[in-house]
Amino acid sequence: MADIPKEYYLQYACKTPEQDILADTRSVPFQPVKVFPENTKFKEGEWQNMLIFGDNLQALKHLLKLKKEGKLKNPDGSDGIKLVYIDPPFATEEDFQGSQDQKAYYDKLKGSEFIEFIRKRLILIKELLSDDGSIFVHLDWKKDHYIKIILDEIFGENNFHNEIIWEYQGSWVEPKNYFPRRHNMIHFYSKNQNYFFKRDYENDINAGINFNRWYDFIENNKIYARNAPYHDQRFKTYVDNFKKEFGRTPKENDIIIDFKGSVIGDVWYIKVADPKSPEKIDYPTQKPEKLIERIIRACSVKNDIILDCFAGSGTTGAVAEKLGRKWIMCDVGKLSIFTITKRMLNLKEEIGNKGNTLKPTAFVLYNAGLYVYNLIDKMCEEDYK
Ligand SMILES: C[S@@+](CC[C@H](N)C(=O)[O-])C[C@H]1O[C@@H](n2cnc3c(N)ncnc32)[C@H](O)[C@@H]1O
Repeated sequence: MADIPKEYYLQYACKTPEQDILADTRSVPFQPVKVFPENTKFKEGEWQNMLIFGDNLQALKHLLKLKKEGKLKNPDGSDGIKLVYIDPPFATEEDFQGSQDQKAYYDKLKGSEFIEFIRKRLILIKELLSDDGSIFVHLDWKKDHYIKIILDEIFGENNFHNEIIWEYQGSWVEPKNYFPRRHNMIHFYSKNQNYFFKRDYENDINAGINFNRWYDFIENNKIYARNAPYHDQRFKTYVDNFKKEFGRTPKENDIIIDFKGSVIGDVWYIKVADPKSPEKIDYPTQKPEKLIERIIRACSVKNDIILDCFAGSGTTGAVAEKLGRKWIMCDVGKLSIFTITKRMLNLKEEIGNKGNTLKPTAFVLYNAGLYVYNLIDKMCEEDYK
């Protein structure tokens, strides 16, 4: 197993060697079912966004084949997926349903079976990433620590960049005998050291000046101080320069007018989509568009390929579409595929699903088949065909 630190690793029942997973996972061809919007005609070789119905393990293996054939190209010429975001089941042992009691998905895998389920997918995802690609893995308190070790084993500890804490609001219970749980973790890893990352700012003007944060002071397109905390010497220089140029001391507004925002750190406070919000879809465990927006903006540029193979209600695709990225989504649940199709055809331009209607880029729904693989493995070639 490549990249496993020699001194320590996670051992558990049913852990399969990495090379066996890569070699033995079956690739299933994607059968095109339908094009959305209907009657779209693609030109020869034109990129098609993909919605795949089926188990992501086999789908990932087929995507790997497409990568090798040069069919997953980013604008910079790199082959493979530029950015993966996954929000898998968290081993909650629950059944998730839509508001009309429709089955969404089961989250029943336990213990080492759950860990191995995620590990297999992560091993294939690493192969699928472009050389400068990254992955964000969304987890909660239950299995986070085990999967973190698995991520270190697969991607290498030196390619781990952040544990993002997403503090959500509105959907926690208030237990009597422990503190209410109200955050999830999102682990950010890259495939290599030369990964793409763009620093971003929180432009919430109402946040005002925060003495513990970092600012760029920009006046008339001139940068007076970059990355300066409010009390920094460089801020004093900014004030001196301002006095020379404008003949007066800057007031707070002079700064706030050109306030670029505070650099986004690794603790994100973002509300969950409440039932009245325009982005709310009838699908359990839906994540907010703003959360995914930050990830996509940080680690990709326009027309890069983004993958979410635990797509759920399709938040990743919806945001990718709004930000002009190409997307591939996969889910094993019928309700998910139905929900995503409807969502992608009814998007609004802005994050949070507001503003003008967004004309959808055409996409193809593929069936990757739902098979009982251990029975198939016992079949002779003739029966299998
Ligand atoms: C937590 S939800 C994802 C929610 C999503 N992030 C959103 O914003 O709506 C997890 C999804 O993973 C899907 N899933 C579980 N096992 C899968 C598998 N083996 N292959 C593909 N999808 C799977 C479930 O059907 C479910 O929709």
